[in-house]
Amino acid sequence: MFSLRALVGSAVVAGFVVSAAVAADFGRPATPQEIELWDIDVRPDGAGLPAGSGTVAQGKRVYEESCAACHGVNGKDGIKDRLVGGQGTLASSRPIKTVGSYWPYATTLFDYVRRAMPYQAPGSLSDDETYAVSAYILSLNGLLPEDGKLDKESLPKVKMPNRDGFIPEPEFRTITNSR
Ligand code: HEC
Repeated sequence: MFSLRALVGSAVVAGFVVSAAVAADFGRPATPQEIELWDIDVRPDGAGLPAGSGTVAQGKRVYEESCAACHGVNGKDGIKDRLVGGQGTLASSRPIKTVGSYWPYATTLFDYVRRAMPYQAPGSLSDDETYAVSAYILSLNGLLPEDGKLDKESLPKVKMPNRDGFIPEPEFRTITNSR
């Protein structure tokens, strides 16, 4: 018995030694600069929003240059997703889901545009341009005045019409972790 236990013990130790050696050869810790490039999420309360700002007027120019070709000049009649209108239709038999009617948080618009748009060149807009084009889309939806401006303080304060439209499914609350 002693020898079996010793054998198992040394196998475990050997395993640690081998995995430590492999681990040491596998990749390297990410640098703070690399983490910063990926760490771009923006939360509903605005945490993660960068410095900078943009006005509705500046956003109109960005939109016409980089977005209108796919989303339409007015955000409604483009060849790709509609971004404007649809408020009040969600509970109808023909719901129109747009940023203005469906999205619960304005900050998601900044996060999404910064990481994913324009479709063919994501990441090409500056932070100021992203604030500006977000401001323009919100103004087209009647959620920001035409002389409006956005920055990291004001964007989280824009209340989206569907903010309280997401209702927790009661059944989900009773599910417990079965593992
Ligand atoms: C080449 C075409 C194209 C261009 C240009 C483009 N988009 Fe898009 N956009 C798309 C497509 C396609 C989708 C849907 C992507 C998906 O569902 O994965 C989309 C989705 C979106 C959505 C999400 C809509 C929703 O309700 O789900 C937003 C917001 C958006 N785009 C904003 C922009 C902005 C702002 C610009 C300009 C900076 C832009 N897009 C430029 C093609 C484009």
